Amino acid sequence: MVATSDRTVTVFGGTGFLGRRVVRHLREREFSVRIASRHPDRAHRLFGLDDPLLQSVEANIHDERSVADALAGAYGVVNAVSLYVERGRETFHSVHVESAQQVAAQAHRAAVERVAHVSGIGADAASQSLYVRKRGEGELAVRAAFADALVIRPAVMFGPDDAFLTTILKFLRQLPIYPMFGGGLTRLQPAYVEDVAEAIARALQGAEAHAITYECGGPRVYSYEEFLRAVANEAGLKRILIPIPFAAWHTLAWISEMLPSPPVTRNQVELMQVDNVCSPEMPGFGQLGISPRSVEEMLQQMLWSC
Ligand SMILES: NC(=O)c1ccc[n+]([C@@H]2O[C@H](COP(=O)([O-])OP(=O)(O)OC[C@H]3O[C@@H](n4cnc5c(N)ncnc54)[C@H](OP(=O)(O)O)[C@@H]3O)[C@@H](O)[C@H]2O)c1
Repeated sequence: MVATSDRTVTVFGGTGFLGRRVVRHLREREFSVRIASRHPDRAHRLFGLDDPLLQSVEANIHDERSVADALAGAYGVVNAVSLYVERGRETFHSVHVESAQQVAAQAHRAAVERVAHVSGIGADAASQSLYVRKRGEGELAVRAAFADALVIRPAVMFGPDDAFLTTILKFLRQLPIYPMFGGGLTRLQPAYVEDVAEAIARALQGAEAHAITYECGGPRVYSYEEFLRAVANEAGLKRILIPIPFAAWHTLAWISEMLPSPPVTRNQVELMQVDNVCSPEMPGFGQLGISPRSVEEMLQQMLWSC
């Protein structure tokens, strides 16, 4: 039997919000992990790299040679690369479809046994939203290149240093009147990032080597307004929530995308227009033996750190 430490998993995007947790959960399961990103020095800062079973390599998923090098000899691969704002040649199509397909195709060529592709809840190749459509097309392209690829669709994720709950908390603290996306009716099911990372590690290690799509959502479905009230309540804040039409948010996001770190993007606004909840018939945390943690449970810890 092969020891997991003799099995290397390459994590593209292993320095990101989700990817760095995937790296840690894979290491806890005794895998060797190769962290692949464009800025390998970030991995040094994050992980120290005094662990002989952790390696950081420079790789750009648009560059075939660097993808091939990062995959050489690997048992598994996780693609946790993101793109939230299109810039120049970095488009939703190039990252989430073309390069995702390339990673899967090269994994197949390199005889990598397990591929986990991170997508998102609601991914749909027929969607009106460019971002959601490209996530859907990406899943199809990955499966066309690697038929048994696992697809992980997280709901919106929260955790220390996230761009979601931390931002909401920051603005709830600063603004006595809080502007909501639309009427606040969109449903969401936030997942704790560590639970999603554990799900990916378990799915990769699991015996089931055929194509499965896991949808990973938290234990509770909220309307956006309920969610804001729950967060404000946990933080001990009383706030007035006012609805702002989506058309106004689109204009604001369009302007904000001109900034180097946009506080709100058009794809975020589009994502807030459709429910972000798991389909009850899809496998998820339960099938992987994980009881997902709630926002209320984790928020008290996060309140200390942000
Ligand atoms: N965050 C959420 O709430 C959420 C919800 C649902 C789904 N997801 C999905 O989960 C995945 C991870 O998201 P995240 O929020 O963790 O992203 P993130 O924090 O932005 O991290 C992205 C990672 O990808 C790397 N990367 C970006 N472009 C790359 C390229 N061309 N080649 C190689 N590496 C590249 C980045 O490192 P370098 O910049 O150094 O290369 C970084 O390590 C994405 O597929 C995202 O759509 C996220």
